[in-house]
Amino acid sequence: MGFFQKKRERKDRVMPRHIAIIMDGNGRWAKKRSLPRSAGHSAGARNFKDIARYCNKIGLEYLTVYAFSTENWKRPKAEVDHILNLLRDYLKDAKNFKDENIAVKFIGNISVLPQDIIDLIKDAEINSQNATGLKLNIALNYGGRDEIINAVKKTVEDVQSGKIAYSDINEEYFASNLYTLGIPDPDIIIRPSGEYRLSNFLIWQSAYSEFWFSNVLWPDFKPKHLEMAIDEYNKRERRFGGI
Ligand code: IPE
Ligand code: IPE
Ligand code: MG
Repeated sequence: MGFFQKKRERKDRVMPRHIAIIMDGNGRWAKKRSLPRSAGHSAGARNFKDIARYCNKIGLEYLTVYAFSTENWKRPKAEVDHILNLLRDYLKDAKNFKDENIAVKFIGNISVLPQDIIDLIKDAEINSQNATGLKLNIALNYGGRDEIINAVKKTVEDVQSGKIAYSDINEEYFASNLYTLGIPDPDIIIRPSGEYRLSNFLIWQSAYSEFWFSNVLWPDFKPKHLEMAIDEYNKRERRFGGI
């Protein structure tokens, strides 16, 4: 294993290749402090930047974060608008992750977002695509079921256009029509905030993922918690159905 270790990697453990995080608990964090929910989202956004930077520093290959689900549109418009504004600010700052050598990619149905955000997303993806550090995937207007339906439609189109034969449809081909094309499945999925569910996150890709839960609310989730999750991951025995 030593041969594969990244420079900053601790010698006594294996790094997961891909960590996914459900960034949950911003609202409760704010409530505990008698602040508006928007303040929780602002704190959560700051924390996201810190954790992404930390993951880059320790040499993680892939980090995927759940930022906004297809179901989160149910929230009051003011809250949704605040979250979109935080995203705008983050994207306008995009040169930051270029300087940090982080390659950013968005997964989800981006096409229904405001046009200025779509443009900022495309710029950020293009400007950072050659970065050699962390590959950061941001799940935005993402839903696992939406992603699967979308992949079914693309697959049907591919059959109809003759790109692929019906009998050649297999898991690998189907997965190539998901938003996560080219991204390995997550090795570990982390959910803070004391909830024990996926909430429509990476439902296809999580078939053999390990899970790590914590009661800590997302804005309070620090590198030490990430380290606890990685240490726990090292104690798991992954069998993938074998013995
Ligand atoms: C996660 O925090 C952020 C988003 C879903 C956008 P929440 O806003 O869900 O926080 P809680 O679960 O209400 O505490
Ligand atoms: C999941 O959190 C979505 C994100 C963190 C972006 P939610 O707060 O929306 O999930 P539920 O509603 O508690 O399942
Ligand atoms: Mg929540």
